[in-house]
Amino acid sequence: MNYASRLALAIDAAREAGSYLAANLGKVRTITDKDGLGKNVVTEIDRNSEEMILGAIRKHFPGDEILAEEGGKGADPGSGYRWIVDPLDGTTNYTHGFPVFCVSIGIEHEGKVVAGVIYDPNLAELFTAGLGNGARMNGSPIRVSAIDAMSRSLLVTGFPYNIDENPDKTIERFIGALMKAQAVRRMGSAAIDLAYVACGRYEGFWEVGLHPWDVAAGALLVTEAGGMVTDFSGGPCSIYAKDIAASNSVVHAQLLDCIRVS
Ligand code: IPD
Ligand code: CA
Ligand code: CA
Repeated sequence: MNYASRLALAIDAAREAGSYLAANLGKVRTITDKDGLGKNVVTEIDRNSEEMILGAIRKHFPGDEILAEEGGKGADPGSGYRWIVDPLDGTTNYTHGFPVFCVSIGIEHEGKVVAGVIYDPNLAELFTAGLGNGARMNGSPIRVSAIDAMSRSLLVTGFPYNIDENPDKTIERFIGALMKAQAVRRMGSAAIDLAYVACGRYEGFWEVGLHPWDVAAGALLVTEAGGMVTDFSGGPCSIYAKDIAASNSVVHAQLLDCIRVS
């Protein structure tokens, strides 16, 4: 199985779309409420970014399937390859001019994620991973951190848009981690959170209620960088499931302990 040509296209597309995002920061014209609750919003910039990425995929790999956050489609049925695209991860940040956002592109082959790209145009950081081929930042190999105690761990999480319903005891889990970790951050881009676990800036990440486009590339980055990704019980992680916990692997059991609720 050869995903190299698709990974190369994903890198080009992520760079191009990421540059477009950075160039248009502070210039959003239309903010649309996706679910009528006021928190989950989309802008014309999300949609334009998605069209740029999907245009490149359709041109070069017209037989591939596409799962993209803003609904763009590819071939159906596909060639066995599926592109999983978040054209702007961190839309809330973006609408406030807050420069923490990225483009995330995962590539599945026959149901398994084989390649992933996350591009943060603000720091010009390009994270790439290929199954069995390691993880890189701007071309240099990256590894998860070696910190082995929760008391010295920097964690990160995010909150679902329906946090007012406290789904899956999100708030209790957050409190559990706050009490035991060195510190807990909330950046507003799940893809960047995972990329930062992969390169050793965070020891662990967890979140409830994410979507495949938030985590497809990032989960592969973490495992290819020597980390671990599971569900909240320590079972295998599916990018299509609702909960995800990722870590440097050394503190994984401690992370799951912190976020356990009765
Ligand atoms: C969101 C971000 C955020 C996470 C939300 C996601 P979006 O993605 O990844 O960090 O907490 O759950 O939906 O909507 O900005 O693409
Ligand atoms: Ca997202
Ligand atoms: Ca998005």
